Amino acid sequence: MSKLQNDLFIRACKQKSVERTPIWIMRQAGRYLPEYRAIRERYDFLTMCKSPEIAAEITIQPVDIIGVDAAIIFSDILVIPEAMGMPLEMLEGKGPVFPKPIRSWDDAKQLKELTPEKDLKYVLEAVALTKKGLDNRVPIIGFCGSPWTLLTYMVEGRSSKNFDNVKSLIYNDPKLAHFILDKLADAAADYLSTKIEAGVNAVQIFDTWGGVLTQVAFKEFSLEYISKVISKIKRNGEPVIVFSKGVHYKLDGLAKTGADVLGLDWTMDLHKAKKTLKGKTALQGNMDPCILYADNDAIKKEAKKILKSFGNGEGHIFNLGHGILPDTDPEKVKTLVSFVKEESKKYH
Ligand code: CP3
Repeated sequence: MSKLQNDLFIRACKQKSVERTPIWIMRQAGRYLPEYRAIRERYDFLTMCKSPEIAAEITIQPVDIIGVDAAIIFSDILVIPEAMGMPLEMLEGKGPVFPKPIRSWDDAKQLKELTPEKDLKYVLEAVALTKKGLDNRVPIIGFCGSPWTLLTYMVEGRSSKNFDNVKSLIYNDPKLAHFILDKLADAAADYLSTKIEAGVNAVQIFDTWGGVLTQVAFKEFSLEYISKVISKIKRNGEPVIVFSKGVHYKLDGLAKTGADVLGLDWTMDLHKAKKTLKGKTALQGNMDPCILYADNDAIKKEAKKILKSFGNGEGHIFNLGHGILPDTDPEKVKTLVSFVKEESKKYH
């Protein structure tokens, strides 16, 4: 395997020694960049995901423009349900919509088994092209949604406020929920394994909606399936990151899934999390994305606080506590990235 020129992110995931804290930004390949919007004007979102040349170009944009220490493959978590046979529409201003949500055993039985090499070939091609384009400058992250987070979209049919349909499903027919979650865990594990084979250096599981469940339901309907995905991924040392938003009460449980890194949202305390976990995993996060609406001094002050909160030692990857917002000024992001690169040296 050819050697990465900048492997700070991978070393930090493994809690190995680094000269400075690596930084990348969740949803860094996207709408806040004018360079993304210029391409987006010409194509719809799913066409972009399904065109490997375009996906690779957008993946590399934030590395060139913002200076982040890792690239994340431009795609979406919902390509899995789409590939399993659910038509997906991305509506302007509304977000993703599945016009035929899954609400019954009959619906669920129609889900196809996923063969990533065939059904999601376009993502694997995007990985290969990204690898070529990056020429080992920084590591590449592949990702998927957690089975629970995918289930929320598949049952609700769209973004939801109260998750009434999917919660109704887990309380009325838990067997059906488990039947679908199990299929999704298999699909996600196969998908991440083939992405690793295609060349990604790490993978992240987005459990964006883990925090909407009760603590008991979280364990049964999300955590168990994250564990299943991780245990089934075929990998050769590539780190796994789990980002479960709003699940501060369960860091120990999340560490037991086999994750190498836990992503923290901005409501969590990095110092406390480090103390709780005692080195069981590395930590990623956790600046409030809205800090990027403030001026440069406020951004630097907040970045300083976060670096200090983790303190001396290894195993921190700087990131936001959730995805960057589309109306963020890219100049502010550049300021944050170069500040973290410089300021973090004293902690290593
Ligand atoms: O991190 C990256 O830059 C890689 C690309 C990426 C996208 N979606 C591109 C995208 C990643 C990692 C995702 C993950 C994703 N997708 C999640 C989990 C992470 C999170 O932020 O919570 C979820 C819940 C989705 C589902 C999804 N896709 C929603 C709800 C939406 C609409 C709202 C929104 O955030 O944009 C999308 C569309 C989407 N996915 C866009 C992009 C760049 C915008 C599409 C456009 O240009 O119109």
